[in-house]
Amino acid sequence: MSSIRRIAVFTSGGDAPGMNAAVRAVVRTAVYHDLHVYGIYRGYDGMVNGDIKRLEVGDVANILQRGGTVLKTARSEAFRTKEGRKQAYESLMAHDIDGVVAIGGDGTYTGANIFSKEYNIPFVGLPGTIDNDIFGTDYTIGFDTAINTAIEAVDKIRDTADSHNRLFFVEVMGRHAGFIALHTGIGSGAGAIFLPETDTSIEELSDILHKSAKRQKLFNLVIVAEGNKNGDANTIAKAIKDANPEYDIKVTIIGHLQRGGSPTAMDRVLASRMGHSAVQTLLRGDSGVAIGIINDKITFTPFEEAISKTKQLNKDLVRMAEILAM
Ligand code: F6P
Repeated sequence: MSSIRRIAVFTSGGDAPGMNAAVRAVVRTAVYHDLHVYGIYRGYDGMVNGDIKRLEVGDVANILQRGGTVLKTARSEAFRTKEGRKQAYESLMAHDIDGVVAIGGDGTYTGANIFSKEYNIPFVGLPGTIDNDIFGTDYTIGFDTAINTAIEAVDKIRDTADSHNRLFFVEVMGRHAGFIALHTGIGSGAGAIFLPETDTSIEELSDILHKSAKRQKLFNLVIVAEGNKNGDANTIAKAIKDANPEYDIKVTIIGHLQRGGSPTAMDRVLASRMGHSAVQTLLRGDSGVAIGIINDKITFTPFEEAISKTKQLNKDLVRMAEILAM
């Protein structure tokens, strides 16, 4: 067992539904083990500026079901500097904090890895991002809620697309990864999916459209991952319209709707398991690792590996999506 007595928790990067469930699990598990636990507000920016407050079990009551993060989040230029990280260290020492749980994406892990080596403070990371693009875990906190939000939106778009016999291009988030787009495309029965990881071309989509028309198969939904090579949904829609003027084409960008909303049961349970495990990890004296879940088992990936390796999209799922869309 480690000598850790006072830990801190913060959320960083894009917020994700389920972050509050993770924060709640960290606080409750820490208090159960007689640790003092502190919330750092606004991510690394709050660490630099000492925006730190003691949390008791009551402070995380009634947040499990809420989207967003009660600890807020912010990008921090100061933390990228040695001086800023020195200030952050002093903030932590002002509260005698001897362990930290960082909830965020790969940028959060990168900061935690650099800082924990400079100041020899144990950090444990939780994958909090809707993108699901973190190596070392099947799922990130927020991904399940985001794809459910996106699929619900696309189902609504399908209604009006069918009524007007229109072709809709729907853009989803994911930064540089296609996990949200792939799962949304499969779950909504889209005719085609543009992913950063594949090379689907505008010409290929035109061919698919013509083949569907020949078979009198209704084709009215294309899912576009924001990071795909052909450009954003408006760019792709214009290219298809230019090549097929007869099509009545519309574009919908779901945007930040995918970041909000009450977390699904899956995300609440995932986040609770990960937050609980993060405190146990610090208590065991382990650190410098990112918590994950693989085949329903909690896993521990060194920060360097989680940061340097790219999580691959399931190519079998991509192929299945093409077959089911025919
Ligand atoms: O990383 C989560 C995410 O929602 C990405 O999918 C998206 O590209 C990005 O954040 C948007 O960032 P911001 O909220 O700063 O515009």
